Order: sequence, then structure tokens, then C-alpha cells
Amino acid sequence: MNERKKVTLPMLFKKVSDDQPITWLTCYDYPTAYLQEQAGIDMILVGDSLGMTMLGYDSTLPVTMDDMIRHTQAVRRGSPNAFLVGDMPYMSYQPSVETAIRNAGRFMAEAGCDAIKLEGGHAMADRIRGIVDAGIPAIGHLGLTPQSVSALGGFRVQGKSAALAKKILDDAKELEKAGAFAILLEMVPDRLCKLITERAENCIIMSLGSGPDAHGQLLIYHDMFGLYPKFTPKMAKVFGNAGEVILNGLKQYAAEVTNKTFPSPENWFGMKDEEFDELKKLL
Ligand code: KIV
Repeated sequence: MNERKKVTLPMLFKKVSDDQPITWLTCYDYPTAYLQEQAGIDMILVGDSLGMTMLGYDSTLPVTMDDMIRHTQAVRRGSPNAFLVGDMPYMSYQPSVETAIRNAGRFMAEAGCDAIKLEGGHAMADRIRGIVDAGIPAIGHLGLTPQSVSALGGFRVQGKSAALAKKILDDAKELEKAGAFAILLEMVPDRLCKLITERAENCIIMSLGSGPDAHGQLLIYHDMFGLYPKFTPKMAKVFGNAGEVILNGLKQYAAEVTNKTFPSPENWFGMKDEEFDELKKLL
């Protein structure tokens, strides 16, 4: 196992000041977290996208805090050193500031998170403020915010008009003022992302499908490796088709069991002749 230093907030800000892009990936389980730890990924997001990628729902809305805590604990066991972010699921923060603080606290106390992320701009700035005042680092999420996909009219690019782009820019400033140490921009135009990044004073701007000019990049792990069967969004580069490798392996397993070429002697356990003879006498 490859040991590395625990990634901390000052280390992330140092990367920004050294103009070193930050790497961030989603992750929902122990073996994948182990691999991401070995690869030296800076930040891990246990996203509520696990509702779609792991649990097979059509949206992220049915995901509960208990679902999130269970997966986040497994990820922390696999990756003790990445900067771990818990994603606040639908209705775990929208009802009130107090609800938001309590659920953010669960991520820190029960799952060993380093920070939480929540979706929304102006309307959620007081949640960010409350969470940060409770001593919990918080990340905002603007642009395409999947928990509001119905209100946004589907999974589409946000902030294409000047007026909507200005709203996202203002929201980013408000979240920064409320104490968010980072903001994720999902599916906004590249030039808007660049503007927000240039104007950020003490806030790390991360891009998911929003171009190269942020302080770092986030990708959904399942999209990178062909592991989500329903679709692959444009913003996701496929770095390897693990889904295809696994499917071929499964077909081969089924064929080998059927034609009796699996298992072979190296796949089973024997017993000494004398013990077996003795056993037969006992029957
Ligand atoms: O849940 C998630 O994985 C997310 C990403 C879409 C950013 O919030």
C-alpha cells in the first residue's frame, strides 16, 4: 500500500497558489476508494449521485442521510488520506439551517469527512453560513444542481444567457461571503467558469464540465470507466472501459461453468488420501 500525507485544506489552497490543478472524483465504495487513494487523488466526493450509479434510481432525490453515511464510511476506510467530502442529500439541508447543521455534523462525526457539499445559491447561503459557523468546512454547488433538475428543466447547461450567467456569478460571490471554502460549477459555460475563478478571492473553484480554467476538475467515476449503463454525459471522458471488461469476464465465467472448464484444480481444495480413506470408513 502506498502511504501518503493526509490532504488538508491548507494543502488544497497551496495547490491553488502554486497553480497546480486539484483532482477530485466521486467514489461510493471501499475498493474504489482504495484505488483512488493509491492513485493520489486529492479530493473524493461521496456524491448523492450514488442514488443513480449504485442504487439504480432515476434521480438523486430518494437518497437518504443513512444511505450517504453508510457509503461514506466505506470510502473513508478505503481512503484514509484523501480530502473527503460528504454530499448532503435532498431535504437534509433545505428545510432549515438547524437541519443542515445537524446533518453536516453527521458526516463529520459518523463518517470522518473533511467537508460537506450542498447545492444552491442565494437561498442556501444561510445554510452554508450556519454550517461553517459550526466549524464544518462547506462547499457550494452551482450551475446544474441535480436535486433541482425538475425546476431547471432537465440535465442541461446552465447560465448560457447573460442574465442567468450574472445570477450564477452573484450566487458564487454570496456563497464565498457566507464562508464556502470551495464552489463546484457543474455544466456552466467555460467563460463563465473562468470569470468566477478569476473573481474568487479566498475560494477554490472546481469544474465539472465547465472548462479548464477552474482551480481543479471533478469527474463522476462511473462515467470515466463505462460503469453507468444508462448514458455517458458529454463532459465525461472515458479513461477506460471497465464496464466492457467486466461484462466480457461475466460472459466467460458463464460459458466456462456451462462447458465445465471452470473450476480447475488450482481453484479448489484437496484432502490427504489417508484422511479421505478414514472418512469413507466412518460412513
Ligand atoms: O452527487 C454527485 O456526484 C454530485 C456531482 C454531480 C457533482 O453532486
